[in-house]
Amino acid sequence: MANRGPADPASTPPGPSIAERLGQARRLLTDDLTGVLVSAREAYGPIVDLTMPDGTPGVLLAEPTAVQHVLETNAENYRRASVYREELSELFGDGLLTSEGELWHRQHRLIRPMFGSGSVRSFTDLILTETEAMLDRWATRSEPIDLLREMERVTLSIIGKAMFSADVEAHAETIRAALETLRRGFQREVGVVPTAPEWIPTPHNRRTRAAIDDIDAVVYDLIEARRGEADEYDDLLSKLLTARTDDGERMADEQIRDELVTFLLAGHETTAAALTWTWYLLANHPGVHRRLHERVAEADAITDAVGFSAGTAGDASFVKQCVQEAMRIYPPVPVITREAEDCDEISGYEIPAGSEVVLSQFVVHRDPDLWADPLAFRPERFAPGAAEERPAYSYFPFGGGQRMCIGRLFALAEAQLILARVVRDVRLRLRSPTHDTPAVDSAVTMVPDEPIEMAVTDWV
Ligand code: HEM
Repeated sequence: MANRGPADPASTPPGPSIAERLGQARRLLTDDLTGVLVSAREAYGPIVDLTMPDGTPGVLLAEPTAVQHVLETNAENYRRASVYREELSELFGDGLLTSEGELWHRQHRLIRPMFGSGSVRSFTDLILTETEAMLDRWATRSEPIDLLREMERVTLSIIGKAMFSADVEAHAETIRAALETLRRGFQREVGVVPTAPEWIPTPHNRRTRAAIDDIDAVVYDLIEARRGEADEYDDLLSKLLTARTDDGERMADEQIRDELVTFLLAGHETTAAALTWTWYLLANHPGVHRRLHERVAEADAITDAVGFSAGTAGDASFVKQCVQEAMRIYPPVPVITREAEDCDEISGYEIPAGSEVVLSQFVVHRDPDLWADPLAFRPERFAPGAAEERPAYSYFPFGGGQRMCIGRLFALAEAQLILARVVRDVRLRLRSPTHDTPAVDSAVTMVPDEPIEMAVTDWV
């Protein structure tokens, strides 16, 4: 492994000149976040000074021990960065993703059991039923499908029903339209395009407010309608309504709203992105794709193919290995950001108080010092035992430490079940784009920036 430390202890990390920083800022304006980070890593190594032209201190940390330091070892020094506190909290309020301190601890304790492996398995039938409805829809059309849209549609239906049972059906369109507006808004804000403060009624702010109001109206209606009959359902809304703290206190409606909106958004786009990239890679690797089909077709049931049945080891599932490898090359969340409260020292470099630290899954997962031939799609990298040979945090699609993704078991189960159910029956063939690497939009969730069109065909 290359020598990654500085020559001079507690020095400033290497980084671009002022002129290069201006160029970088311009690239960030065009949403090329992953491009900027990869170039920085190639030019300066895994720890790079990213101080912005306006003087805001920033640093890229793309070295496993540095990532572990921020997420685990010295996590108490690293709070949510301003993007979570300002832009994301406008929508998510004080939900799990954006809250901190005592409130986060209390909510995390109450919510964690809802996403344990037992609860997640109880959604198997729901996930398979929704996937079959999607396959039925595909069977009636002759033109190619827009893969990302289809994956978003099925994952939104699944998380909607997991949260609200059947109730969400009537509101699905409102939610989908509002989320689309918000996503476009976030792309602008996280893409570092200057936006007016939310109290100024610009067209952008008005659209954002209206979309949040639409979602709120639906979510508060659902909470109200359910009150009093929470015991009759076994979904996430009922669990939130009946949850009690150690002192017997129930969650306020606003808090329930914040958690539900967080699950609704964080819980479907990311999984849809993971599946879209998995299929894109499979379509470009016909040998792996066929092997996956054969493994699934050999199994007696989809639950056996994904290792959910008694007696089979879940980690040995080839379906899971394909999803994990796709999330390595195309991590749905390509960066995690934090803000250093006090100054710190990482790998011998000085991190001033107030620095934005950027931990990048995208860069670490493609580091040739950690992953041989990093752009090659090889699911066997995740075969049982293989991970033991790699350093901790050379792979962290779900983050790490206390704030690791609470929905990771749900997401992995969902992605595997959808992938296995579809790959058993149909073969998706790439129709467009025909060029090598699709453009990537990495403003929030990393998704293709051009439609990935697939023809739905039979296996022959
Ligand atoms: C492939 C799918 C998914 C990926 C790649 C993913 C990724 C992540 C990552 C990287 C974080 C950490 C963010 C940080 O530390 O700043 C996170 C947090 C979170 N995720 Fe996920 N996620 C996925 C699916 C889900 C699902 C299905 C749900 C819920 C149903 C969910 C809910 C959350 C929540 C609530 C948090 C905040 C946790 C906390 O701070 O305590 N995610 N996710």
